[in-house]
Amino acid sequence: MIKDKTLIKGKVHYVGVNDRTKHSFENMWPLPYGVSYNSYLIEDEKIALVDTVDACYFDVFLHKIKNVIGERPIDYLIINHMEPDHSGSISLIKHYYPNITIVGNRKTFDMIEGFYGVTGEQICITEGDTLELGYHKLTFYITPMVHWPETMMTYDHTEQMLFSGDAFGCFGALHGGFIDARINTDIYWNEMYRYYSNIVGKYGSPVQKALQKLSTLPISAICSTHGPVWTEQIEKVVGIYNQLSLYEAKEGVVIIYGSMYGNTEQMAECIAAELSAQGVKDIVMHNVSKSHSSFILADVFKYKGIIVGSPTYNNQLYPEVESMLSKIAARDIKGRIFGYFGSFCWAGAAVKRITEFMEKTKFEVIAEPVEMKQSMKPDTFEACEKLAQAMANALKSK
Ligand code: FEO
Repeated sequence: MIKDKTLIKGKVHYVGVNDRTKHSFENMWPLPYGVSYNSYLIEDEKIALVDTVDACYFDVFLHKIKNVIGERPIDYLIINHMEPDHSGSISLIKHYYPNITIVGNRKTFDMIEGFYGVTGEQICITEGDTLELGYHKLTFYITPMVHWPETMMTYDHTEQMLFSGDAFGCFGALHGGFIDARINTDIYWNEMYRYYSNIVGKYGSPVQKALQKLSTLPISAICSTHGPVWTEQIEKVVGIYNQLSLYEAKEGVVIIYGSMYGNTEQMAECIAAELSAQGVKDIVMHNVSKSHSSFILADVFKYKGIIVGSPTYNNQLYPEVESMLSKIAARDIKGRIFGYFGSFCWAGAAVKRITEFMEKTKFEVIAEPVEMKQSMKPDTFEACEKLAQAMANALKSK
C-alpha cells in the first residue's frame, strides 16, 4: 500500500491536476481522454515548485501544494515552459507566495512580464547553471523550441529525475495514479503520437538536439508536463520521441481524401484495395470530413506512404483537404513518399493544387497523379491501381 499518494521519489512530489472538461487542447486538438497539467514540488531545506498548471485549476493545485508543505513558503518557482497551460498560475502563485524567486532564462522573463505583468525576485539561468536546495542539486539545460523558444529542462542530480517540460509528454488525464509503474499505460501510447505530431511535430531538429544533450545523464524518472511520470518505460518513451523527431516511419500508407458524393471516395477505395492486394498491410483511410486532423497528423507521422485525394471545389481544393495539407506542410515532415489523385465535375483544379502543395514539401512523388471527371470509368480504375502499385513498390524498395 502506498502511504504518501503524491510522492514520486525521495522528497519529490507530484502536484499536477487533471483536465477532463476541456474539449480541445490549444482550442484545436480534441482530448478524448482529457489531459494532465503536471507540476512537481521538491521539498528540501529550500522548497522548489517546477512549473504550474492551467489557471482554471489553481484552487485544486494550491490545495495539493499545501497538503505537502503545509504553511511553509515556496522558495523557488522553476519555469521550464511558458505556454499558458503551464504558466497560467504564475501570477496566482506569486500572489500566495509573494517572496518566491522565479527561476528561468532570459526568454522566460520576457514572456512572464509580457503575459502576466509579473516581475520581482528572479534568478536568470544560463546553460548548465545549478541551484542547490539543500540535499537536492538541480542543473538547468536550455532546450529551445521543445516546444517554445524559452523551453528548458531541469535535472535533479540527487534523485536523477528529469523535469522535461513538454518533451516526452502525451495527452490523456491521469486516473488515480501518475507513475507508469502503478497504472495501466495503454491509452497513452497513441496519445503520445498524437501529442507529439500535433504540438511538437514541427520541431524535430530541436528535439534531436535536446536528446543528444541529455543522452549522457542517468535518468531514473522523466517528469514531463503532460501524462504519466515515466520510470519503468523510459526507454520506450525516449525511443518514440527519437523516432518521431527523426521523422522515421513504418511501412504503411495513410490515404487522406475528401468526397462530397462518394465518387472521389471510390478512387480512394480502389487504391486501398490494390495496395492491400500488393501486400501492404498497414493502410489507414481518413475521410477529412469525418476524421479530426489531429488523428490524421498522427498517422502521417506514423507511416511512410501518404496518398491524398480531393474533389475540385470552387476551382480550388476541397476546403477540408486544403486545411489538412496546410497542417501537414506546417510540420516540415521529411522522408515521406507521396501519391495523389483528384476529381472534378466540369473543370479540374484539385490535382493542380495538390501539385502546388507538393512542390513546397520534401516528399518524393511516386507516380503521376490520377485525375477523374465525374465518376469512375475503366481507365480510372486502371490508373488508380497503377498509383497503388507504384506506392507499394516504392515502400518495398525503401
Ligand atoms: Fe504543454 Fe507547450 O505546452
